[in-house]
Amino acid sequence: MMKNELILILDFGGQYNQLIARRVRECNVYSEVVPYNISIEKIKEKQPKGIIFTGGPASVYGDDAPKCSKDIFELGIPVLGICYGMQLMTHTLGGKVARANKREYGTTEVTIDNSSPLLQGFNNTNGFLMSHTDYVEVVPEGFHNICSTSSCPNAAMENPDKKLYGIQFHPEVNNSINGIQVIKNFLFNICNCKGDWIISSFAQESIKKLKEKIGDKKALCALSGGVDSSVAAVLLSKAIGKNLTCIFVDHGLLRKNEGDEVEEVFRHQFDINLIRVNAKERFLSKLKGVTDPETKRKIIGEEFIRVFEEEAKKIGTVDFLVQGTIYPDVIESGLGKSSVIKSHHNVGGLPDYVDFKEIVEPLRDLFKDEVRKTGLELGIPENLVYRQPFPGPGLAIRIIGDITDDKLTILKDADSIFREEISNAGLHKSINQYFAVLTNLKSVGVMGDERTYDYTIALRAVETTDFMTGVWSKIPYDILERVSSRIVNEVNHVNRVVYDITSKPPATIEWE
Ligand code: XMP
Repeated sequence: MMKNELILILDFGGQYNQLIARRVRECNVYSEVVPYNISIEKIKEKQPKGIIFTGGPASVYGDDAPKCSKDIFELGIPVLGICYGMQLMTHTLGGKVARANKREYGTTEVTIDNSSPLLQGFNNTNGFLMSHTDYVEVVPEGFHNICSTSSCPNAAMENPDKKLYGIQFHPEVNNSINGIQVIKNFLFNICNCKGDWIISSFAQESIKKLKEKIGDKKALCALSGGVDSSVAAVLLSKAIGKNLTCIFVDHGLLRKNEGDEVEEVFRHQFDINLIRVNAKERFLSKLKGVTDPETKRKIIGEEFIRVFEEEAKKIGTVDFLVQGTIYPDVIESGLGKSSVIKSHHNVGGLPDYVDFKEIVEPLRDLFKDEVRKTGLELGIPENLVYRQPFPGPGLAIRIIGDITDDKLTILKDADSIFREEISNAGLHKSINQYFAVLTNLKSVGVMGDERTYDYTIALRAVETTDFMTGVWSKIPYDILERVSSRIVNEVNHVNRVVYDITSKPPATIEWE
């Protein structure tokens, strides 16, 4: 990967920090989010072309306000402070930050001095997202104003000699009209970036680096069939071939045919050393009679680790354990400033009992969509690369109540019909997660002249970007009708289909 052109993003705890990093990468400049208190030495070592200070919830006058050293402005590296970042720049350099009586929030009309290299390409007015209470009342010496709103006198400022810039608005969000232009201006007009970082170079660079790092040593990877572990496994396999062993624990709770599809891709298409453990019986016997969702999760998580451990022991000591960690995981767990909204209960977390010397995380620097692009580049089939999220505990948390083999078959068949129809209707890219749930409810129906007393299947489909909130998808009635009629006709023991019309919150995406 060409990392020589780097933009460092100092994280002051704002909610849009990942988005800033993404926007910079969209301009083909590599970016890294680092804690706000990174040392000056570290910054120098990294030799960034520019530095961006993110926003954040603090006030510069607060007791715990995250601060930065004044020296950072003396490095000769251009700095762009966004929101809190601008206020901090002001405060540190001797300007004055004041508190307004009222928060300014929303897309707001600004008046622009478009002769500034930061604001070139804009008309004299534009709509930018403002979200702040504190504001810059007096710009520091050497700075002048380049943008204002009716209630914020200094919505942007510059010190072109020192290449220091501050903006009170958020250019990274869609609510700012053409906000990306501000980021481009900073990168190309001010930092003189070339913009030659492209994701397609990542795969080849990464394979080369992995080859150098691992040499002829051995690596072990837990393969789930999810996109992250799949891309990590293929990268490793291209780097070290048969010295990589993948263990795929099939707990029998995957969707219809999914276990075989994973095996087909990795064993046959990529010729990876794959151990598939068919452990369905083992999981089902542990889960017998268990109805509580959290207990199900716990049992599956523990059993998964046990199975993995047994297989790993057979292999003996390995040098490297491969993890499919991606950049948002690193940002969320490592920096400790942005608030973590949900901790993920994944099966197959770090198995610390496996005898290995080092962890290798080839996707650590990538966002999800970049992981997907890399996957496609490596030749992983599209259906796997664009696989919707699937919970580690699998169908166990989509069968309400206790789990049996028969119920699993019913759910797999119903779910497969639903997915097929969504795909046929071309809705699979706009609905972010969709699946069937086997409710534990039986009700009376009539089939032919016979009374039936069978299960109710619930359909769930949500549209979301972050999976923390979401709305139920307004699937056209005729598609729902076709799905319902196919399920009751083709799947035994189902006589009723309902559609879940609850958003998240208050409901979660999964039923358990
Ligand atoms: P909820 O149900 O909390 O789900 O709205 C949000 C997202 O997380 C997935 N999910 C899980 N993923 N292990 C996982 O790996 C789990 O135990 C688990 N529970 C929920 C869910 O599918 C959705 O994408």
